[in-house]
Amino acid sequence: AQGVNVGLLGLGTVGSGVIRIINNHQQELQHQTGCSISVSKVLVKDKYKQRDLDTSQMTLTEDAADVLNDEKTDVVIEVMGGITEARDYILQALERKKHVVTANKDLMALHGKELLEQAEANGCCLFYEASVAGGIPVIRGITEGLASDRITQIMGIVNGTTNYILTKMVQEERDYEEVLAEAQELGFAESDPTSDVEGLDAARKIAILARLGFSMNVELDDVELKGITNVTTDDMDYCSQLGYTLKLVGLAKRTEERVELTVQPMLLPNDHPLAAVQNEYNAVYVHGEAVGETMFYGPGAGSMPTATSIVSDLVATVKNIRLGTGSGSASKPLHTKAIQANEE
Ligand code: NAP
Ligand code: HSE
Repeated sequence: AQGVNVGLLGLGTVGSGVIRIINNHQQELQHQTGCSISVSKVLVKDKYKQRDLDTSQMTLTEDAADVLNDEKTDVVIEVMGGITEARDYILQALERKKHVVTANKDLMALHGKELLEQAEANGCCLFYEASVAGGIPVIRGITEGLASDRITQIMGIVNGTTNYILTKMVQEERDYEEVLAEAQELGFAESDPTSDVEGLDAARKIAILARLGFSMNVELDDVELKGITNVTTDDMDYCSQLGYTLKLVGLAKRTEERVELTVQPMLLPNDHPLAAVQNEYNAVYVHGEAVGETMFYGPGAGSMPTATSIVSDLVATVKNIRLGTGSGSASKPLHTKAIQANEE
């Protein structure tokens, strides 16, 4: 089988999951792509750090150039997080005609347009399924599954950390701070969890989904947001007594005149389907004019679910590489249409 070489930027919660899936699902990956996939070089901050993973088959490096300049690298997977360096490395990878997969919603919400344009200019793929709702294929659901429809509303729980906190505060009557620390330990929270609890992470995801769903150039600043930092166990008890559940809900609504984008704590009747979404799970309702209401549900954070989306993006990339080679044309990047459509 043809070999595909992956360079990995980051070997934390998500990066480790990526290695595990590539190692454990070789047969499935080969069946899907016809290629044998391997990871050779991995960028980390500290190459001497103790890791709960066998790294003997790969080279760990603290120098991004080792990954980005390696001519053997076909695809770069960015799971290091942050904005400035991640953007720079992805741009370098694309300039060198390497395809890119990323889980970085911070980056895609702020610089998605630029990066997708660069990908297209270089004939490369840039996929980012894992950037929204971890293991749920909601980006593909919207851009491919519902591509024929006119989407009017997207509403959902798109942050696993806050949903985990709110669930445990109600069900186990535990304090906010204690459950947040647990969500960090479980790998659900961002390295700085402020973006989770203040609603910014959910806002980034809603901006990405609205951009794709509405084919509009939505900016992060367009999202009005409020987090859960002021919610107390007493508030949660009171809501329960009244028959409601408090959830951090993101909403993107399109009318003839305007688009409304919000992230805020919302009181949902206990029998509302979103009220039943627990722990780090996410759920996204997408309303289309023709299809009606659809719901995407599953684990929204964590190592293996998020890595599933990444490696599925890798599979899509490898299929595109093969198609491009086979047909003699450059493989086409997906997900650029939505942003460009607005500019025409
Ligand atoms: P993480 O556990 O903190 O891992 C980050 C990894 O990147 C570490 O291996 C770290 O190296 C490396 N790294 C960070 N900054 C670096 C730098 N400047 N130079 C070189 N290496 C650097 O983060 P994570 O939870 O895996 O998240 C990674 C990305 O996925 C983020 O964009 C996040 O938003 C996104 N994401 C996460 C989840 C989730 O559930 N965790 C879900 C969806 C999307 P060391 O190991 O040496 O420290
Ligand atoms: N910190 C994010 C969350 C990770 O809790 O949802 C998944 O994007």
